[in-house]
Amino acid sequence: MRIEPIRAAGGRPAHIRHDDDLISAKGVSVVMAKQLVLQNIDLAIPKGSFVSLIGPSGCGKSTLLKVLAGLVHPTSGGVSIAGLSPVEAARKRMIGLVFQDANLLPWKNAVDNASMLLGIADKSLSRAELRARGQEMLELVGLGDSAHKRPNELSGGMRQRVAIARALALDPAVLLMDEPFGALDAITRDQMGQSLLEIWQRTGKTIVLVTHSIDEAIHLSRHVHVLGIKPGRITESLDIGLPYPRDLSVTEDPEFVRLVVQLRTMLRASHQPGGAS
Ligand SMILES: Nc1ncnc2c1ncn2[C@@H]1O[C@H](COP(=O)(O)OP(=O)(O)OP(=O)(O)O)[C@@H](O)[C@H]1O
Ligand SMILES: [Mg+2]
Repeated sequence: MRIEPIRAAGGRPAHIRHDDDLISAKGVSVVMAKQLVLQNIDLAIPKGSFVSLIGPSGCGKSTLLKVLAGLVHPTSGGVSIAGLSPVEAARKRMIGLVFQDANLLPWKNAVDNASMLLGIADKSLSRAELRARGQEMLELVGLGDSAHKRPNELSGGMRQRVAIARALALDPAVLLMDEPFGALDAITRDQMGQSLLEIWQRTGKTIVLVTHSIDEAIHLSRHVHVLGIKPGRITESLDIGLPYPRDLSVTEDPEFVRLVVQLRTMLRASHQPGGAS
């Protein structure tokens, strides 16, 4: 795996594009079942950034992530990932996906689950090479000792780590994560967030995280985009200027507390149909 240093990204509004943007969405609208699910989404995500999407249930966060992954095609507008369409980017293994459920194969152990997608994507790799990559990724997510365990022998948090390892095994430039820690208890969730930050800093991936947690969004992200409901659209964007590396003590920082209040106010407004923009 290529390990890149994290580059600093300036705080700038989401709609202003720079050459170093890895992901850019312009005027993306999605209509499904005659419903306008997403309206005119503009996004510019710099390479190496950590961005969170937050908003009321049903506002279209998962749909937006699927658009970025090439799984849903916009009705109008377009997305570019390093100059490619999402489908082309996915074909080139530039996109890793992590969902709320780990969706591991129950009969495979952790190391074989971690290398499973890579094995499908690259048929030329031997079983030993796949195992070696799986093991390397498990070590990256702190599960180096659990390679032989099957999913039913792992906790929910450990299963999510395997799912993250499975996505990272493809060495994608972009990691798209849809509420990956939503089913975990508060303390495990904090720990998972912290280890995701460490993985991000070690690998230099560009991460887009969907979360319902205000604290998680602020703890982890460089930029937070708030989506509003009916129709789903970006209502506000917030730059998180807290310096990295961040650990959990950042949650006691007065600036963190101020940002929590600010984001909560934005989120409240985003619950109003057609509300603040
Ligand atoms: N395949 C589909 N066909 C029709 N409508 C869909 C489809 N997928 C999602 N929708 C609708 O699009 C809207 C947004 O759904 P989406 O799952 O993106 O919301 P979300 O913000 O991720 O919600 P949650 O926070 O509950 O996960 C919802 O009204 C949903 O019913
Ligand atoms: Mg969702």
